[in-house]
Amino acid sequence: MNTRVSTGAAPGKVILFGEHAVVYGRPAIAAAIERGLGATAEPAHDGPRLDIPRWGRSGLHIRLGERQPGIESVARAFAAALEAAGLRDARLRVTIDAELPPGVGLGSSAAFAIALLRSLGEFRGAPFSTGDLLEAAEHVERVFHGTPSGLDHTVVALGGCLRFQRGREPAFMPVALAEPLPVVVAWTQREGGTRDVVGRLRERHDAQPDLYERLFDAMGDLAEAAVEALGHGDFARLGALFDLNHGYLNAAGVSGLANERMVAIARQHGALGAKLTGAGWGGAVIALAPDHPERIVSALQDAGFSATATRVGATS
Ligand code: MEV
Repeated sequence: MNTRVSTGAAPGKVILFGEHAVVYGRPAIAAAIERGLGATAEPAHDGPRLDIPRWGRSGLHIRLGERQPGIESVARAFAAALEAAGLRDARLRVTIDAELPPGVGLGSSAAFAIALLRSLGEFRGAPFSTGDLLEAAEHVERVFHGTPSGLDHTVVALGGCLRFQRGREPAFMPVALAEPLPVVVAWTQREGGTRDVVGRLRERHDAQPDLYERLFDAMGDLAEAAVEALGHGDFARLGALFDLNHGYLNAAGVSGLANERMVAIARQHGALGAKLTGAGWGGAVIALAPDHPERIVSALQDAGFSATATRVGATS
């Protein structure tokens, strides 16, 4: 029996510009964050098992083959990762140490996929190449999100800050930042999963494609403008671009009451700009906060939201 204890890690992410529009082929910019997820794979006497002690009320404990209502998608994602690693029936146990809250738009599912696959690659004695890792992560992400653009798991796998565009061959390249971005990230529960938000937007788009395509064009233009502003460290311009992007996302119908409240609080307490980040309908927001981010964090926490000040986009 393999006696190897193998580990894998991955950061979470924030989308700085272009969520949703990226699904329709427009460019988007995303960055890795400091919080992440670690996976440890070790030999076990019974079949594949997965434990995530910090998710759910009393942790998630997956035994493949058993019916476990409420956590089927995590079980199917685990099975997809094992399949991709050629370890479908291996006697192993994986434990995930998750610093990231699940399902709020901070890349928990993409980080789950990448950290898990990395640990499985080590466990089998043949780490995934970057190309194979991205392909395998897409299969795992599909279990959670249906037809993901690929943005989330690409930035989580590669780290730093990336410009990403979906296509037959996804195009991604690092965005050079004048300095890591000082931001406040805040989050709360979501009103629906990414799959639901993306699906409902698809219905609205298909009913009036011309109008929505124009909205997505505008979001794509913002992402292009942001590459330049990020390169120059032009925070005033970036803040304005955040606000514009949030307005477009609101127009697209993906903002929720909680996003609007968090964005308003951040702006009132000194953010240069703020927007929802990720799929929306609750979940997370990001605020550009070069000065006194602690004031924004306290105001958000006083209002009952989770919030932290951090820097994003640093290349490790
Ligand atoms: C979700 O984090 C980002 C979305 O653009 C969906 C996707 O890119 O697949 C909403």
